[in-house]
Amino acid sequence: MLSSLCRIVPLGVILGVGCASPQLMVATFVPTRPGVVTATHVNVTGNWLAAVSMNDGTFRRSYFDLVQRGDTITGTVRTTQFFFDIVESAWDSTGFTIVGAMKDGGSVRRQEWHGRLVGDSLHLVAIRRPAPGTPATPTPAVTNASAASVAATPARPQPELVAYRVPPGEGAMPAKIPPPARHLVRDNGIARTPAMGWNSWNKFAGRVTDADVRAMADAMASNGMREAGYVYVNIDDTWEGDKRDSLGNITTNSKFPDMKALADYIHSKGLKLGIYSSPGPTTCAGYIGSYGHEAQDAKTFADWGIDYLKYDWCGARMLYRDDEMPAVYQVMGDALLATGRPILYSLCQYGRQDVWKWGADVGGNSWRTTGDIRDTWESMANIGFRQDVLAPYAKPGHFNDPDMLEIGNGGMTNEEYRTHMSLWAMLAAPLLAGNDLRTMSLEVLGILTNKEVIRVDQDPLGKQGTRAWASPDSASVRQEIWTRPLANGAYAVAAFNRGPDSARVTIDFAALNIDTHGATVRDLWAHRKVRVRDNRYTTTIPSHGVVMLRVDR
Ligand code: GLA
Repeated sequence: MLSSLCRIVPLGVILGVGCASPQLMVATFVPTRPGVVTATHVNVTGNWLAAVSMNDGTFRRSYFDLVQRGDTITGTVRTTQFFFDIVESAWDSTGFTIVGAMKDGGSVRRQEWHGRLVGDSLHLVAIRRPAPGTPATPTPAVTNASAASVAATPARPQPELVAYRVPPGEGAMPAKIPPPARHLVRDNGIARTPAMGWNSWNKFAGRVTDADVRAMADAMASNGMREAGYVYVNIDDTWEGDKRDSLGNITTNSKFPDMKALADYIHSKGLKLGIYSSPGPTTCAGYIGSYGHEAQDAKTFADWGIDYLKYDWCGARMLYRDDEMPAVYQVMGDALLATGRPILYSLCQYGRQDVWKWGADVGGNSWRTTGDIRDTWESMANIGFRQDVLAPYAKPGHFNDPDMLEIGNGGMTNEEYRTHMSLWAMLAAPLLAGNDLRTMSLEVLGILTNKEVIRVDQDPLGKQGTRAWASPDSASVRQEIWTRPLANGAYAVAAFNRGPDSARVTIDFAALNIDTHGATVRDLWAHRKVRVRDNRYTTTIPSHGVVMLRVDR
C-alpha cells in the first residue's frame, strides 16, 4: 500500500497519488511584460509525489521536494535510480522549468522538467536532452553504448506526471551507510567456465512474468539448449515489489506471485534460476534494491533456491561515489557466501572504476565491462571488438562480461549474429541468450547451440582471446584476426570482416605463432576440416561475417 495514499487519479497509464494540503496556493500567473509571467501568486513549495502504476501492483514514485523563494525554485528530485539537486529554475507563460543535476561517476547528469500547477496537483513533464559536457564514452577501455545512445537522442517530451503534496520527509533518501573496510572475499568455487543461460532483459525488459520464465525454461529443456550448456534462467529487473514487508523482507510484485515455486519448477527442468538486485535503495527501473538489507536478501534468495545474482549499480549512484564501488560490492559478495548456497555473483556496473581489476576480489564471478548492448551491429561490434585490453583479467571463476546476447532479436542478420556468437566465445564471455526462445527460427537456435563454438567459449583454460592482427584499412572496411589459447595447446582463431563488402582474408598461422604442421584445423561454422597449406589459410568472409577455426595438436 502507498504510505500516503489519499487518492488515485487515473490518467491513462499514469496515476497521480497523494494528499492535498490545506495551505495549497492557487495558480495565478501574473503577466508583467508581454509574454513574460512571474510566479507572484504561485508557490510550489512542498513535497510532491507522482506515482505511476506499473500494472504489477507497484508504483514508480518520483518525489519533487521543492522550495520556492520568489521566482527561484530549489530542492531535490528523486526518481527511479536518480537523486537530483535542482540547480536552475525559470518561469514562462506556461509554468516553470527546473533543471536537476547529479554527480554520477566522473560526469554530471542533468535532467529538466517542465511543471505547471493545476488545481491542487503539479503536472510535470521530463524533457530528455543530451547532457551538455557528458562524455559519450565514460569508460576509457570500452564504449558505453547506452551513454552514446542517450547523447544521440534529441530533446523529446515524456508522458506527463501528476504529482500531489505528501508530508515532508516522505520519499527522503535513506542515510548513507559507510562502505566497509576492504578485504578479500573468498572464491565461491563456481563458474569455472563462463555462465551460460538466458536472461529476460533484452527481449522482455519490464514486461517479464513468471509465465514467461517458465516458458523459457520449457524451451531450453526441450530444444537442445540445456544439453548445449545453457543452464541459468535469469530474471532481470522488475520482479520486485516497491515496498519491503513488515519484517524488512524483499517482496515480489504481482508478475511473480511465488518465487520459491518458480525456482522449484526451474530446478525440476534440470536448470538453475537467476535473479537481479541492486546495492542501491532502488533498481534501475525504480523497484526496491538491497540497500541496507544485503544479508537478509541474500538469505531470502538462498531460501527461494536462487542460483545466480546479477547485482546492478543503478540506485547506488544516489548514495555512493564510484571509488566506493568495490567496498559496496564486497558487502553482497560476503552475504552470498554466508548463505552457504552456491550463488553465481554477477557484477553489473557498466565497467566503471576498472572493475576488472577488483571484481574477483569482491567475490564476483563476472563483471560487466560496458554499458547496455543493443540489438544493432554497431552496438555489438563497438562493444565486442573493444574488449581486447581486458584479456589479462579473465580466468576460471572470474570473467569479463561484455553484456548479454542479442542473437535472434531481429536487429541484425544471422551473419552478424554468427559474428556476435563467435566474438563472445573468443572473449570467454558469459553466453546469456536474450531472445524469445519459444519463437526463434531453427537458424537462430543453430547459432546459439553451435557446440563447437560453445566448446571454445567454455574452454577450461579460461583464457580470453585477443586481437592478433587488424587490416590497415579504415575502420569501416576493417578485418581482424583474433586468437585464443585453449587447453592442451589448442587454439581458436577467428577472422572477422567488419567491412561493407565480402573480403578475402589470409590467415597466416606463422605470423600468429601457431604451428599447424600435423595439427587438425576445423571450421567451427562449416563443421568440417579445412586444408592449410604452408601454414596459411585463405578464405572469403562475407560482410560482417566470420570464419572461426580451431587448431588441435
Ligand atoms: C541496466 C543493466 C541492464 C538491465 C537494466 C534493468 O541498464 O545494465 O542489463 O539489467 O539495468 O533495469
